[in-house]
Amino acid sequence: MDRIETVKNHFEEEAKEFDEIILKLIPHYTEMIEALVLSIPFEKDKPINVIDLGCGTGTIGQKIKIAFPNSKISCLDIAENMIKMAQIKIGENIDYYINDFYDFDFDKKYDVIISSLALHHLANDEDKKMFYRKIYNALTDNGVFYNADVVLGSNSHIQDLYIKKWKTFMGKNVPLDEIENKWIVKYKTEDRPASLINHINWLKEIGYKNIDVVWKYYNYCVYGGYK
Ligand SMILES: C[S@@+](CC[C@H](N)C(=O)[O-])C[C@H]1O[C@@H](n2cnc3c(N)ncnc32)[C@H](O)[C@@H]1O
Repeated sequence: MDRIETVKNHFEEEAKEFDEIILKLIPHYTEMIEALVLSIPFEKDKPINVIDLGCGTGTIGQKIKIAFPNSKISCLDIAENMIKMAQIKIGENIDYYINDFYDFDFDKKYDVIISSLALHHLANDEDKKMFYRKIYNALTDNGVFYNADVVLGSNSHIQDLYIKKWKTFMGKNVPLDEIENKWIVKYKTEDRPASLINHINWLKEIGYKNIDVVWKYYNYCVYGGYK
């Protein structure tokens, strides 16, 4: 089984419990998502077009719909069961795409492109950079892209610190053997994070403006910029 299929199967199986699990595994998940939504610079009533890449169970789409009631939300995910949970959470009046990032062609321009805990699944630096460029091309003028995600430390000391702090957080919610034998194993086999400095440099090279890191807790952060 290739890595993307492994990732897809993981989320197909986890869909029903995902909302509970994510709070146990990701430090300050709710605060991180709040920072992502607060970064969107548009007027509350503006009818903005938004797409959530790797939408999972639709948590972010739901929050955006509350913050921007006239927004048109599109949700994309490779895992059908995650999309089904999103449909229950935010309803049918949303465009849903069951697609792999690698095969997806944006069908229109978006004012807001966001993603949370999903783009680290792209295989390598080249693929991430290419996808950032694709996102840039799909933004309206002054459209924004924000990503909440896990990143790598810039050296082994910082990376060890990141993992230590992450394990300390998970240790409050799940047993130690589950952390080591399940979640750290999944992290190593399924995830391909890059350093935050690299992400920022790629955004700069592509031409994003107003690039910023809005929120950060060790290896979890929210960053992005404007077209
Ligand atoms: C950790 S979940 C995050 C869900 C949601 N964004 C959140 O923060 O609650 C990652 C999601 O990305 C999706 N995903 C991973 N790789 C993908 C790919 N190559 N194409 C599309 N979706 C993908 C998974 O199916 C999963 O639903």
